[in-house]
Amino acid sequence: MATMATIKSGIPGLDDLFGEKKEFPKGRQVLISGPPGSGKTVFGLQFLINGALHSDEPGIFISFDDLPRHIRTDMLSFGWNVRQLEEEFNPPLITMVDGFSARVGLSTDEKFTIRANLDSLLIVLTEILEETGATRVCIDSLSTLSTIIKDPAQVRKEILTMGAILGEQGCTTFLTAESLEGGVEEYSSQGLIRLSYDELPTGEFRRSILIQKMRGFAHDFSWKEFRITSEGIKIFPERTVGRVHLK
Ligand SMILES: Nc1ncnc2c1ncn2[C@@H]1O[C@H](COP(=O)(O)OP(=O)(O)OP(=O)(O)O)[C@@H](O)[C@H]1O
Ligand SMILES: [Mg+2]
Repeated sequence: MATMATIKSGIPGLDDLFGEKKEFPKGRQVLISGPPGSGKTVFGLQFLINGALHSDEPGIFISFDDLPRHIRTDMLSFGWNVRQLEEEFNPPLITMVDGFSARVGLSTDEKFTIRANLDSLLIVLTEILEETGATRVCIDSLSTLSTIIKDPAQVRKEILTMGAILGEQGCTTFLTAESLEGGVEEYSSQGLIRLSYDELPTGEFRRSILIQKMRGFAHDFSWKEFRITSEGIKIFPERTVGRVHLK
């Protein structure tokens, strides 16, 4: 039996949720879906940064929701120096792409920018892939893109095209999205990871993560607790969290 290619995701606890090998599927396109503040952006960047630092996998981050310089500053709060990974390695270990400025009409001095449509996204992506040999990509967020392309059939087609091109190159791709259950993005991607949070009776909130789908892979199928600390995201595979108290 052919074994599926896998990687170390770089997110503590995540790989334990997959099959016997306990590694993350490689070369797939995975949607990371969740409400505001559920950790989608941190999840995507941690995947790229740890992939770059610990697995020799350069990454590309395409930011549609915020300015790259804000992201760089935010990530410093976890001790992650994105700027260093961009500038002190050749080829760069992280490449930031500004998909935000053009969309809101700001000028930018970022090296890589894209107009707010998927055509230019694919051109820029292909160029950076060739230059850097990146094997991890995060697009943050697909929801923003979907508001630009209004036709669901077109969105689906673009996702499939992008998935085919990136998959062909062995790239593992995270697409973040707002949690619109049953949205076209959720059917089009090969995997779906849900990030969420619930209010406990005490009034505290608890974060949880679910591998909702991963085509071709055996995986855990329950909500697991995770935390965001000063060291980033940490998942607790031994802590299944029920929602009985929410009734
Ligand atoms: N240094 C830090 N230490 C601990 N927790 C942090 C730190 N930085 C951010 N957080 C937590 O992570 C959350 C931000 O997560 P993130 O930006 O990834 O969410 P998101 O799902 O991308 O949100 P949005 O939908 O608004 O884009 C913050 O709201 C905060 O609770
Ligand atoms: Mg975000």
